[in-house]
Amino acid sequence: MDDKIRELEERRSKVLAGGGPKRVAAQHEKGKMTARERVESLLDSGSFTEIDAFVEHRCDELGMAEVEAPGEGVVIGHGTIGGRLVFVFAQDFTVIGGSLGEMHAAKICKAMDLAVKAGAPVIGINDSGGARIQEGVDALRGYGDIFYRNTLASGVVPQISVIMGPCAGGAVYSPALTDFTVMVDKTANMFITGPQVIKAVTGEDVSAEALGGATVHSTTSGVASLMFPDEASTIAGVKKLLSYLPQNNIEDAPLAPGGDDPSRACPGLKEIIPDQANKPYDIRDVIKDVFDDGDFFEIQPIYAQNIVTCFARLAGRSVGIVANQPKVLAGVLDINASDKASRFIRFCDAFNIPLVTLSDTAGYLPGVGQEHGGVIRHGAKLLYAYSEATVPKLTVILRKAYGGAYIAMCSRHLGADQVFAWPSAEIAVMGPDGAANIIFKKEIDEAADPAAARAAKIAEYKKSFANPYKAAVRGYVDDVIDPADTRNRLARALSMLLGKRETRPARKHGNIPL
Ligand code: HXC
Repeated sequence: MDDKIRELEERRSKVLAGGGPKRVAAQHEKGKMTARERVESLLDSGSFTEIDAFVEHRCDELGMAEVEAPGEGVVIGHGTIGGRLVFVFAQDFTVIGGSLGEMHAAKICKAMDLAVKAGAPVIGINDSGGARIQEGVDALRGYGDIFYRNTLASGVVPQISVIMGPCAGGAVYSPALTDFTVMVDKTANMFITGPQVIKAVTGEDVSAEALGGATVHSTTSGVASLMFPDEASTIAGVKKLLSYLPQNNIEDAPLAPGGDDPSRACPGLKEIIPDQANKPYDIRDVIKDVFDDGDFFEIQPIYAQNIVTCFARLAGRSVGIVANQPKVLAGVLDINASDKASRFIRFCDAFNIPLVTLSDTAGYLPGVGQEHGGVIRHGAKLLYAYSEATVPKLTVILRKAYGGAYIAMCSRHLGADQVFAWPSAEIAVMGPDGAANIIFKKEIDEAADPAAARAAKIAEYKKSFANPYKAAVRGYVDDVIDPADTRNRLARALSMLLGKRETRPARKHGNIPL
C-alpha cells in the first residue's frame, strides 16, 4: 500500500507543479499569479477541494501524443468564501497556454453541473490562449458545451467570470453569458478577433490593450462589469460582490445587520438638491446617506455613468439600487444607460434582491444618433425589466420625473410596490419650459413682451404641474416625504414587503426587446 500511496503522491505533485518552474516564473514576471495561487487566495484558507486533478487529454494530432498537460490546463473544485460554498475553475496558462481542449472543457462543465446541483455560485478564472488548435472541432465542442451550461445556469446560480489574462476568440462568450465579468487592468484582454486578424482584414492598427483591455471594456463596450488594478484587488472585489448575493435563485441573500439604525434620520439630504432645478449633484451622496453604513458596491461604475447601478444594504438586507446620476448628462436615459440598468434589474429579480429606484431624470436623450442607434428598442428593455420583476420594488422620486422617464424609472404603473416623492419632485408630462412653449404658444407669441409672457407661463405651469401632489392625489405616489425620512420609510416598506409573492401567467419565456 505504501508504494501505491507514494505513486499517488508523485502523480499529484506533478499535477500541482503545473507547467513547471520556468513557465511559473514567466507567469509571475507578468504580474500574474498561477491558477492554484488564484484559487487559494480567492477561497477561505484550507477550504479548496480539487476535483479531476488527474484528467488528461486524448489528442494525438500535431505532436500532442507526446505533450503532457498537468491538470489538463485547468484547476477545478469547490471551497468556501466567507463560509459559503462556491465552485471554481481556473485556467492554468502555464500548461499549453491554458488552451481549451475537449477534456479541459469537460472539467469546467463538471464544475458547472455540480454548482447547479448544489445550488452554489460558479466563479471562472480565465487565462487562456483560446481553443486548443491541435484539438480542432473537439475544442469547439468544448466551448459549445460550456456556453450551453452558462445559459442553463443563468438565473439559477450566480456566475462570475474573472479575466486575468488573454480571453480571445469564442472564449469571450462564456464570460459574456455569465452575470458579471471582472477584469484585471493591463493584464486582461478580451476580443473576438485579435490585432493581427484585424490588421489583415480591415487594415486597422490597434494594440491588444486598446482593442480589448479592461479600460476599454469598462468604459466603451460595457463588456466588463468591474475592473481592478491588480489580481489581489480583483479577488477582494469578487469576494465583496458575492457578499451581496444569495447562493441561488431559491435562497435570499445573507442578512448582514450592522449597527446602522434603520430608522436613522438623514437630515443632510435636504441640502443635497440644489435650489436651481438644472444644477447637478452626485446621486452617490444620497445613496451613501440612505443605505447601511454609507457603503455600496457599484456595478459598471465607469460605463454609462448617467445611471448608477449598485448593491447596498438596508436594515442588513441586500438591495439593488438603480439611480439616475444628475452629475452626468443630467441623468438622462440613453441607449447605454437603458442596457446597463435593465441587465442589473434582471439579475436582481432573478436572485430575489429587492430593487430600490432613485429617480431624477428629465427623460430619454434626444438626438439622431440615439434614434438611429435604436433607443426605442434599448429603452424598452428598461420598461420590460421593471415590469417583469416581481421582487419588492421601491421608488423614490427626488426631483425630475418627466414623461417617459417618469414611467420608466419604476413608476407605480410598472408595478412599484411603494412610491415615495420628495417635496422637490416634479412629476409631469414634460419640463416646464417645453410645456409652456407648446400649450401657451399663442398667448406668448401675441403678448406685448413675449419673453416676460413666456417666463410667466413657465412659472404658472411649474406651480400647477411640476410638483409631487398631482401624482399623490391619484395615489400614484404613496406619500410625499421629508427627505430626512427616506431611510426610515424605505426600511419600513422593505420590511412590509418581505413576504411579497407575485405570480405571472405561465409561459415558456417572455421576449425582451434585445
Ligand atoms: C494551442 C496554444 C494556444 C492555442 C497558446 N498556446 N495558445 N496552444 N492552442 N490556442 C501555447 C503556445 O504555443 C505556447 O506553447 C504556450 O501556449 C504559451 O503561449 P505563448 O504564445 O508563448 O504566450 P504569450 O507570448 O504570452 O502569448 C499568449 C497569446 C498567444 C497572446 C494568448 O499564445 C496567442 O495569440 N494564442 C492564440 C490566441 C488565439 O488566436 N486564440 C483563438 C483560437 S480560436 P509553448 O509550448 O511554446 O510554451 C478560438 C475559437 C473558439 O478560440 C471558438 C469557440 C466558439
